Amino acid sequence: MKLEVVILAAGQGKRMKSRLPKVLHVVGGMPLLEHVIRTAQGLEPRAIHVVVGHGSEQVQDALAHYDINWVVQERQAGTGHAVLQALPAIADDSIVLVLYGDVPLTRLSTLQNLVQQARTAPALLTAELQNPQGYGRILRDKIGALVGVVEDKDATPIQRDIREINTGLLAAPQRDFLAYLPQVGNDNQQGEYYLPDILGLAVANGKTVSSCAVESELEIFGVNDRVQLNHVEREYQHRQAEQLMREGVNIADPARLDIRGSLSCGEDVSIDINVVFEGKVTLGNDVSVGANCVLSDVSVADGSVIHPMSHLQQAVIGKDCSVGPYARLRSGTVLSEGARIGNFVETKKASIGPGSKVNHLSYIGDCDVGAEVNIGAGTITCNYDGVNKHKTDIGKGVFVGSNSTLVAPLQIEEQGFVAAGSTITGSVGKGELAVSRARQRNIEGWVRPGTRDTKD
Ligand code: UD1
Ligand code: CA
Repeated sequence: MKLEVVILAAGQGKRMKSRLPKVLHVVGGMPLLEHVIRTAQGLEPRAIHVVVGHGSEQVQDALAHYDINWVVQERQAGTGHAVLQALPAIADDSIVLVLYGDVPLTRLSTLQNLVQQARTAPALLTAELQNPQGYGRILRDKIGALVGVVEDKDATPIQRDIREINTGLLAAPQRDFLAYLPQVGNDNQQGEYYLPDILGLAVANGKTVSSCAVESELEIFGVNDRVQLNHVEREYQHRQAEQLMREGVNIADPARLDIRGSLSCGEDVSIDINVVFEGKVTLGNDVSVGANCVLSDVSVADGSVIHPMSHLQQAVIGKDCSVGPYARLRSGTVLSEGARIGNFVETKKASIGPGSKVNHLSYIGDCDVGAEVNIGAGTITCNYDGVNKHKTDIGKGVFVGSNSTLVAPLQIEEQGFVAAGSTITGSVGKGELAVSRARQRNIEGWVRPGTRDTKD
């Protein structure tokens, strides 16, 4: 279809009480406007035009990676005025769909329906609300045909009782916009050019304006303040959780799961409460994520377990690994199959070989660890000399005793053994034992302080 989409996003959003333009406020890790752009993309339009005004540069910068025709509306003179700014860029044979940048939960199927109805005349998305206050009301004639929209502020008391409202989302042939929009005036309570006024003009010119109603109010729910932003966030999260559960994911509590990006899951994945996923996260089959974990830009292969209270960032977890509880895996961490990272362990730019273990209280940074290595409790890689970062290389089958400090650059060749409590500053050869600590002395006949005779 020759569809073009216009997204209105010039408003300031005063009630957000924020320096950030309203449409850049985030839901599910993504600006409101980005949600709308993505939904629009789902319709595969020829072009997407976004009308910006307040903070227009900031908005354009934030979404520069999308293929958008940006239209700047210098002063916000109303929704009709906003659409008028975009018309010159739209091809004459198009169907034009108007969306709002602050209404992010509209379903694709709803918009597809609306566009279908707008091939030859305008079509309007409507809703029946218990409390229609603030919305434009739908005016119909005796036989129920739509004849126009009256804004709340311009409505008579009788019109205010109408519960069928204008959602603001509408579609029409570009030719109708070209014909009627320039005729819209601003002689109303708000002194604005109202977009819905084209409907009355179309009807006056013998056109039949159709309407379709949304199934759920949430689809047309707009964000004006932070309470509404939160409402949208929770609804968005709930939708995602529900979708995952339908796809076979076991979620302990959909109300205590936050996905701020994309999460894709294999079969029989379990997610406990209070888990946050950010960026792009992939979980393989039979993965389980314990309570209170944060995973951002992470992939976890089949059968691995992330125990509670763990924080993983830009990490790649192989098959059948065990992480946490209380693990911190920072960027560049790669765990091979069967690796184990235990409690209070921090890793950064570290690759841990198959079956290797770092089970307690360690820092492993800028480090390559081979297969079947055991790193004892409290081992620290001293990777930073205050200026540069240095690498530690640990070969296959190495054993590092507890409380060792490994001063990089350093290599411990395969089967090397570091005695507990050592400070290792030089490389350790294959199969060698490195001991670097004060030798134990036992002093016979030693007398404890306080038990000596102090009379003279
Ligand atoms: C509008 C409709 C109203 C409908 C309601 C649904 C008009 C005149 N009224 O009212 O019938 O019930 O939406 O929420 O259309 N915008 C611009 N430039 C402008 C003015 C607005 O880009 O000059 C953008 C805003 O940023 C916002 C959208 O258009 O995204 C709607 O504007 P808003 O002021 O919220 O419209 P309402 O008064 O709520
Ligand atoms: Ca609004």
